[in-house]
Amino acid sequence: MSTETQQTTVGILGAGKVGTVLARLLIAAGYRVLIAGSGATSKIALTIEVLAPGATATTADEVASDSDIVILALPLGKFHTIPRDLLRGTLVIDAMNYWWEIDGIRDDLNDPRISTSELVQEFLPESRVVKAFNHMGYHDLDEGPKAEATPGRKALGIAGDNAADLETVSAIVNAVGFDPVVVGSLRTSISLEPGSELFGANFTADVIRDAVDRFPLSERGQLVTAARQ
Ligand SMILES: NC(=O)c1ccc[n+]([C@@H]2O[C@H](COP(=O)([O-])OP(=O)(O)OC[C@H]3O[C@@H](n4cnc5c(N)ncnc54)[C@H](OP(=O)(O)O)[C@@H]3O)[C@@H](O)[C@H]2O)c1
Repeated sequence: MSTETQQTTVGILGAGKVGTVLARLLIAAGYRVLIAGSGATSKIALTIEVLAPGATATTADEVASDSDIVILALPLGKFHTIPRDLLRGTLVIDAMNYWWEIDGIRDDLNDPRISTSELVQEFLPESRVVKAFNHMGYHDLDEGPKAEATPGRKALGIAGDNAADLETVSAIVNAVGFDPVVVGSLRTSISLEPGSELFGANFTADVIRDAVDRFPLSERGQLVTAARQ
């Protein structure tokens, strides 16, 4: 456990399948973790005690105000319900996807010209949004972590507009057991969304890089070359 992870508090909004897996992985990596569902702490306290021991169940407001970094792990269709004002100045990791079976048919979330993370960034103009943890199923996230440099280690695609934030999120992805692959700008996160070749991907970094390279250039965003590592 590094000093950096000990000092960093990662908050998670959403205490469902992905939120609890991420809480467990982050705790194992040495982070302090706060997690909330949509309602009272008492509704999730037992779940967190059992599924993510060491994480602190709390309210969404406290997650937003007391965390250094906040992960969005709630249904995308509900993103307008997150405490926007309390997230001012915070690095926000968007793990959400448009899933019509859950979110309903929503034309506002389904525009092929804009990534859903850009919509989240528009809603959070004073936060910095990075896409990560969205394309891999929660069971693969749960079972996939491996130590750095282990052969066959799986990778997670990351997209964002700020180099320092991409570095921070890459460090988190690495700390929880996956190779980070920066695919490009927030617009480029379309290449990680449902409907893309990479959605559902449980692959190594080279496979993810190959798929990104095949993604139509016009949809990849200008930062794709600069931000790749
Ligand atoms: N399932 C996967 O394999 C997977 C993988 C990667 C990414 N994702 C994405 O991750 C997100 C969550 O998926 P999931 O499968 O974990 O869903 P889930 O099991 O249904 O959990 C959703 C959680 O979000 C909470 N929530 C709703 N509104 C909230 C708010 N305003 N503040 C805080 N929490 C709120 C819910 O709380 P209540 O119960 O109190 O409403 C619930 O705890 C989705 O966008 C999904 O597309 C899913």
